[in-house]
Amino acid sequence: MSRNRGSRPANAARMGSAPQHEQADLPALADREGVLADLERVICDAWASFDRPRASEPELDEDLATRLGSPLPEEAGDAEAALGDAARILDASISPSRPLYLGYIGSTGLEVGVLASALAATYDANLAVSAGGADLVEQQSLRWVADFVGFPLAEGSFTSGGMISNLTALLAAREKALPGSRAEGIGGRRAAVYCSDEAHYSVVRAVEVCGLGSAAVRRIPIDSRRRMRPEALDRALAADIAAGVTPVAVVATAGTTLTGAVDPLDEIAGVCASYGDRGVWLHVDGAYGLPAAAVPSTAALFTGLDRADSATLDAHKWLGVQKSCSVVMLREADRLRAAFGHEERYLLHEGDVVNPVDQTLEYSRPFRSLRLWMAFRVHGAAQYRAWIERTLANARRLTELLRAAPDFELLHEPMLSTVCFRHAPSGVADLDEHNLRLARALQGDGRVFLAPAAVDGRGCLRVCFVNFRTTPDEVEYVLEVAREFGERPAELP
Ligand SMILES: Cc1ncc(COP(=O)(O)O)c(C=O)c1O
Repeated sequence: MSRNRGSRPANAARMGSAPQHEQADLPALADREGVLADLERVICDAWASFDRPRASEPELDEDLATRLGSPLPEEAGDAEAALGDAARILDASISPSRPLYLGYIGSTGLEVGVLASALAATYDANLAVSAGGADLVEQQSLRWVADFVGFPLAEGSFTSGGMISNLTALLAAREKALPGSRAEGIGGRRAAVYCSDEAHYSVVRAVEVCGLGSAAVRRIPIDSRRRMRPEALDRALAADIAAGVTPVAVVATAGTTLTGAVDPLDEIAGVCASYGDRGVWLHVDGAYGLPAAAVPSTAALFTGLDRADSATLDAHKWLGVQKSCSVVMLREADRLRAAFGHEERYLLHEGDVVNPVDQTLEYSRPFRSLRLWMAFRVHGAAQYRAWIERTLANARRLTELLRAAPDFELLHEPMLSTVCFRHAPSGVADLDEHNLRLARALQGDGRVFLAPAAVDGRGCLRVCFVNFRTTPDEVEYVLEVAREFGERPAELP
């Protein structure tokens, strides 16, 4: 951590007054207060529109859509008019903050995150080099999120997303498993990374970027609950080691993207620990699911998390803040510095000063952690736990409704807050196609936004409850709207 702990130099008071300053002739906004008042109104209207579902979704008006094709403006424009246009464009765009946005993995868009984003952008601190007090906020936020989910944090970093958090962890794991590979490349050395059949694609991409090649990914089969099979992992590790292949890491998923399955972390940690003196690095990709480790109804699924070497959590998913705000956490100190630290003539290190850039892939780094810090400060861990439980209850409610509905089919046993199902009325021959068209119709309509998916090759609808604004009553509405379209198959797009 940096020695610069955000305090001013001790002799600041003796440094005299600031030099005389003629205001520079910058193209500053002529009416800052006026524009801010306009922005305040726009934001308050947007927040009010997130409080309940809208009866229909507005379309972008034709005049504005035409103007979006116009060339680069040479002359200065009016800030108020630009703000008005931007607000209309966004109001007619898809926002995951709406209570019935249940597609992919959304968020809540907590209001405090907007305040934090505005403040961070105002000061534009760069968390590449030691930035003073902002570094302390980042470190505190890391400790808070690790405490919240029960990860024994030694070091970590905020990143731009789960993809980069997974890559950061794998680069640290690679340097440990194949020392010197950072400098020399992996040369002829053969290496492998293990993950379940349903791990997120970002794991494959990270392995590619690590220079191991995607052929190094060992897809481990899943069980009936769609979780990695530890005994199959064990066999794959044993076979590779016998063949002279070095295991770089096992990536367990704590909340798969497709169905929310949580791999058996404790058993997987046991397998990892049984190889060699130091064991195989265990990374937990909890980009989506890890917040559920913090709540009573699902905590047991995450037993063994404290044995992992690293973990990813996207606060811009189930912790409700705006994109992007991901966290990578490591159990052992100095692993990030071993993978990323460097000494440049323009970034000298005095003694033990560590610039954040020595622990991350990125150089310019925005102050992402402020959103999460504000959210924990303002709402507290107890409120977060209640919110997360509510989203889990929504998923259970939908599951019950689906079980009771003769015209719907549940495609898996949900472990967290993701549910895949399909509309299966009698008389429809091709259910895969029917459900893909139904998803398209629902997205076009916009009242309920959900995504199409495929489970075991079967086309279906997928909903993911991470938005704290979704109420239990609205869960029923999802099926109501799906029926409204699904019962008229001939009219589906
Ligand atoms: C399990 C999992 N890992 C990684 C990612 C990638 O995260 P991001 O989109 O923040 O890069 C996702 C995204 O949905 C995910 O579900």
